[in-house]
Amino acid sequence: MSAVGPVSGFTPPPYPYDRLAVVARQASARFGEIGGLVDCSVGTPCDPPPPAVVEALASSGTERGYPASIGSAAYRQAAAGWLGRRFGVSVDPATELAACVGTKEFVASTAQYLHLRDPSRDTVLYPAVSYPTYAMGALLAGLRPVPVPELAGGGLDLDAVDGEDAGRALLLWTNTPSNPTGLLTDLDAAAAWGRRHGVPVLSDECYAEFTWDGPPRTILTAGTDGVVAVHSLSKRSNLAGVRAGFYAGDPDLVGFLLDVRKHAGLMVPGPVQAAGAVAFADDLHVEVQRERYRQRLDFLREVLGASGLDAPWPQGGFYLWVPVPPAFAGGGWGLTERLATEGGLLVSPGEFYGDGGAGFVRVAVVQPMERLEVVAERLSGVDLTGG
Ligand SMILES: Cc1ncc(COP(=O)(O)O)c(C=O)c1O
Repeated sequence: MSAVGPVSGFTPPPYPYDRLAVVARQASARFGEIGGLVDCSVGTPCDPPPPAVVEALASSGTERGYPASIGSAAYRQAAAGWLGRRFGVSVDPATELAACVGTKEFVASTAQYLHLRDPSRDTVLYPAVSYPTYAMGALLAGLRPVPVPELAGGGLDLDAVDGEDAGRALLLWTNTPSNPTGLLTDLDAAAAWGRRHGVPVLSDECYAEFTWDGPPRTILTAGTDGVVAVHSLSKRSNLAGVRAGFYAGDPDLVGFLLDVRKHAGLMVPGPVQAAGAVAFADDLHVEVQRERYRQRLDFLREVLGASGLDAPWPQGGFYLWVPVPPAFAGGGWGLTERLATEGGLLVSPGEFYGDGGAGFVRVAVVQPMERLEVVAERLSGVDLTGG
């Protein structure tokens, strides 16, 4: 047996939000006594899920046995029913859809699993300014993350992917509506590009219900061949705490991922599936939630605008993607610090989402109106255009 030598492998980078902790502490120290910090940094819902969902969570009687990785028939049928109602697409819940434990684990692990299927490809393509887990999933699998530039009006500039990267691509991630930019992507074009290059397209659609510019979109409208849509109840139904999502599309891809995930022991807990089935069957609570986000986006956009920060209305999602004013010297981190120290408002510096985000901050409207009103009072008369 050979001795194990010193290891010099992968070192996980600092977790983005851990880096914000210092800023949060400083602002809390200043505002702790008078209303505290208003945390709009992480996109974690603050509103309640529907009571019937909580009731189902507590009373399903499914605690004793192991749940199936694919998800219960009720959960899959409810998810497929929602896809039909909301997007007008039809998927077979027996072969084209399976449960995942929230979607972050799916986003982080899929590159690793697809690489087992096709070891000849080593590259993960993902939007240049995006949710960090697409690139992290590549790194965790020892693969090459390659950002795809984005078009100014939204969507991937797939013509800019060089031939070698396309030839090595294991998968392409898309995300519409985009976290953090709030822009929409042409999913038909993404599906067509993937088919042309033999690259599976994984479409993260977890903010679809909060599409403000036209109807919600799914890549499944382009057919299931070579594509997988990824959905979550975290944002749709304020259920981030219970971890429920699903993936649906190409039966070969879904079937392969399901087989691997079964071996890995990835299962949505039974009571969570029971609650998820109730949530997917109901659209009314989503209408209520849409109004909450619409009102907060409107309000905060005006509050920030009064201080000289002009954010466009997002095409989708519940984030304001705020450009740092040209005369403001400190970039996204500097603006994050000013907002925290002057407004007690914690936001995310845009560089968390890629180098191209460095000139922005992201504001998640995940605090109730009365908390946002506290920020409005603090920022009243504060000019943030310079400094
Ligand atoms: C773009 C995007 N995808 C996926 C997720 C993961 O969500 P969850 O794991 O709660 O389903 C998030 C969470 O913020 C997100 O912003």
